Order: sequence, then structure tokens, then C-alpha cells
Amino acid sequence: MIDIIDANNGNQRSFKGENMAIREVRKQGDPVLKKKAKAIEKFNDPLLDQLAEDLFETMYQAPGVGLAAPQIGVSKRILVADCGEEYGGPYVLINPKIVHQEGTQIGIEGCLSFPNLYGDVERAYKVIVKAQNLKGKWFKVEAEKLLSRCFQHEIDHLDGVLFVEKAKNLRELTPDEYRKEREGRESQLAVI
Ligand code: NI
Repeated sequence: MIDIIDANNGNQRSFKGENMAIREVRKQGDPVLKKKAKAIEKFNDPLLDQLAEDLFETMYQAPGVGLAAPQIGVSKRILVADCGEEYGGPYVLINPKIVHQEGTQIGIEGCLSFPNLYGDVERAYKVIVKAQNLKGKWFKVEAEKLLSRCFQHEIDHLDGVLFVEKAKNLRELTPDEYRKEREGRESQLAVI
């Protein structure tokens, strides 16, 4: 069990996990971030379970609300997300595909691979994502607002697409400036 700070609302939460390890988050310029990640074909695999746990621990420690495997140097199609209790989850999505999207939203995004860099990114307001779980079972998850943004940002990571390629008004913010910007608009501001 580890205590984590919810990156969305600042509340403390607990996450149950064993043998987790914090991995190094790959940063801007690392070639793994620009590679298209490979589909996962082996399920019910302790190594896959471990990868998901490491992604969670690394994401919570950062903290961020989502993390994709290429960001810890593993070019495979798996992501984790936890945007807070109001969005359900935490989620593990393997081989995810967006099967439906509607509407648009513009919000400020950051990325754990681009520390202190933020920009305005237009995303679909709502998505339905089809994905496999750790046992290989396909499921669908419907997401709106922040969770929808998070899934889109992370699925982009799996395709080697980075938010800076889609963002307008990219700017550096200090942690204090970031906290000020997020006041009153936290559902539209996320480090993913
Ligand atoms: Ni990111």
C-alpha cells in the first residue's frame, strides 16, 4: 500500500500494490518517445503485471494523472490513468483504440516527459476507448473531460505523438505559476 497525492484534486489516496518500482521518466529528446509502440500479445504474464504496477507507481510519484509505457522506456502499447475518484479507475488500458469520439474541449496540458512545459491542446470532449485488460479481455470505457483528454494524450504517446506537436501557446511555468493557473480550472489542467 502506498499513499499518493491525487494529481487532479490534491487529495491523498491509497493505492494497493506490491513490489512496485519507480522507473525513470524519459524526457524530451529520448528517441523512445517518438517510436510507435508495439502491440502486447502475451497476457496473464507476471512481467506485464509488473510493468503496469511500475507505471502506476511512477505516475503517482511524479505526480501525473496518466502514463504510457514508452515514457519509462518500454515501447509497448500499455497505459495507466487515474484522474481521481470522480472519473472511476484507476485504469490499465492495453492495446487501446479510440472507437468513438465527439465534441471538442480546449485545455492546458503538460506532460511528465516535458517538465514545466504547458500548452493549450484541443481534444475530443468524449471518447469511447476499446482496450484489453491484463488478462487479455477486451472492454470498452467511456470518458469525458479530463479522463478523455488523458486517454487521448496517452494513446498519442503509444503512437510516438507528443503533446507539443498539437499544443498552442506553449509556455514554461514554474511550480508556483502552475499552481496559480490551475486554481479554479483544475478539471481543464493536467500533467499527463
Ligand atoms: Ni505525456
